[in-house]
Amino acid sequence: MPTIRLGEGRAYAYEERGSGTPLLLLHGFPFSSQSFRPQLDSPPKGFRVIAPDHRGFGNSAMKDGPSSMNAMAGDALALLEALKLESAVVGGVSMGGYVAMALARMDPGKVKGLVLIDTQATADDEAGKARREAVAVDVIQNGVGGLVSSMLPKLLAAKTPDVVRGRVEAMMLKQAPEAVAAASRGMATRVDSKDLLARFSGPTLVIVGEHDAITPPAKAKEMADLVSGAQLEVIPEAAHLTNLEQPAAFKRLLEQFATKF
Ligand code: MLT
Repeated sequence: MPTIRLGEGRAYAYEERGSGTPLLLLHGFPFSSQSFRPQLDSPPKGFRVIAPDHRGFGNSAMKDGPSSMNAMAGDALALLEALKLESAVVGGVSMGGYVAMALARMDPGKVKGLVLIDTQATADDEAGKARREAVAVDVIQNGVGGLVSSMLPKLLAAKTPDVVRGRVEAMMLKQAPEAVAAASRGMATRVDSKDLLARFSGPTLVIVGEHDAITPPAKAKEMADLVSGAQLEVIPEAAHLTNLEQPAAFKRLLEQFATKF
């Protein structure tokens, strides 16, 4: 897997496939770039898919402290620079969507368009922040097993094939507790991004699974309503991981979206 070196030599790994407009795809919590396996194996026509591992996940090295959305966005911006890309369409699933919005806030000129997948613009409330801290403490003390058991039933629609379910579970179980805890604490500090979406003027595609219980279709509609001209697509028979549950429908949407660039 290709790797760049960030500050202090920290390894940051990514995969890329396909050709066309650069499409940075940012993974959710607690996954890795491998959650974009279908998009890497069969890239949507018109896009060069670039999928990094956030700090501590997959093959990227950890950095101490909470992994804030800004910190992860900074890593992704450094990758664009290392690849000599002036801009990219920036997409993210769930936590990856929070990072995509952080990136658009930090360096709007780098963002040609947004793909917001099973994510939300709102920040955590106090109860949500407390849950993030409880997750962080639990995974450090007991490993990621408890988190995986509690998240798995909400991630995938009932009809998802066992082989996909098995891959999702294995990917989560592989992630380092320190990275998972740091990302959980980082998500708790994220800001509300409704203002950012209201001023974003690039092409925007919002995708959500019809059965997404973590970031439900109402959250997707809220984001799409904020961005002028945004396209909202609800994928049937999918929950929170639409790109893994319904890769063919997901690919069709991306291929249509690619024609805008
Ligand atoms: C994710 O899939 O990245 C997480 O469910 C996001 C979250 O917990 O807010």
